[in-house]
Amino acid sequence: MTETPPVAPAGIAGYGADADALVAQYESVAFEQVLGGLLHLFPAAPARVLDVGAGSGRDAAALARLGHTVTAAEPTAELRERGRLLHADTAIRWVDDALPGLPLLGEPGDRYDLILLTAVWMHLDAAERAGGLRRLAGLLAPGGTLVMSVRSGPVPVGRRMFEVPPRELPDLAERAGLRLVHRGERADLHGRADVRWLEWGFTRS
Ligand SMILES: C[S@@+](CC[C@H](N)C(=O)[O-])C[C@H]1O[C@@H](n2cnc3c(N)ncnc32)[C@H](O)[C@@H]1O
Repeated sequence: MTETPPVAPAGIAGYGADADALVAQYESVAFEQVLGGLLHLFPAAPARVLDVGAGSGRDAAALARLGHTVTAAEPTAELRERGRLLHADTAIRWVDDALPGLPLLGEPGDRYDLILLTAVWMHLDAAERAGGLRRLAGLLAPGGTLVMSVRSGPVPVGRRMFEVPPRELPDLAERAGLRLVHRGERADLHGRADVRWLEWGFTRS
């Protein structure tokens, strides 16, 4: 495994300074509410799960409690440390790692049955999304599933976000050898009327 942590990605702008308020917000909704439209794609426990941009670890902790072996990659130190403390009762492996390269997840055989990106993909620019999708596809075990929820709507002040063209993700996934198995959409759980969430599921054969 590479020992050098990645350079902090531009996409974490604004997260560290607001960490306390953000953790409270993330933990105010349940895993089942956030991921309800995607849960039918999740493997049975025990499976190897990677939560990328795990934030406070809400989803990573819920999946660990279900019996999965969970790695949480989170580049914002303030969120990672709060998440580690908040969910200390779970056996999450926390890693300071980031897309597009996820260089610390380079162990031979480091493969996952489920990779989860909840509210992360829109932080990557076009080049990062192309490289990131190839990297995620390479980290999926045969038969593995990649799920994402991607924000669409105005960019909050102080954040770095992009509007992701709706056709782009299935195109990138197809080129990386993944099959589209789910596309959905839901409203924002925090009442922001101008924000929508696109949900995606892909599998590797
Ligand atoms: C809106 S939060 C979502 C947190 C968590 N997944 C949730 O649903 O509560 C976005 C997260 O993406 C992380 N992030 C931003 N850029 C990233 C990158 N290049 N690679 C991995 N994570 C990134 C941020 O640090 C932050 O934790």
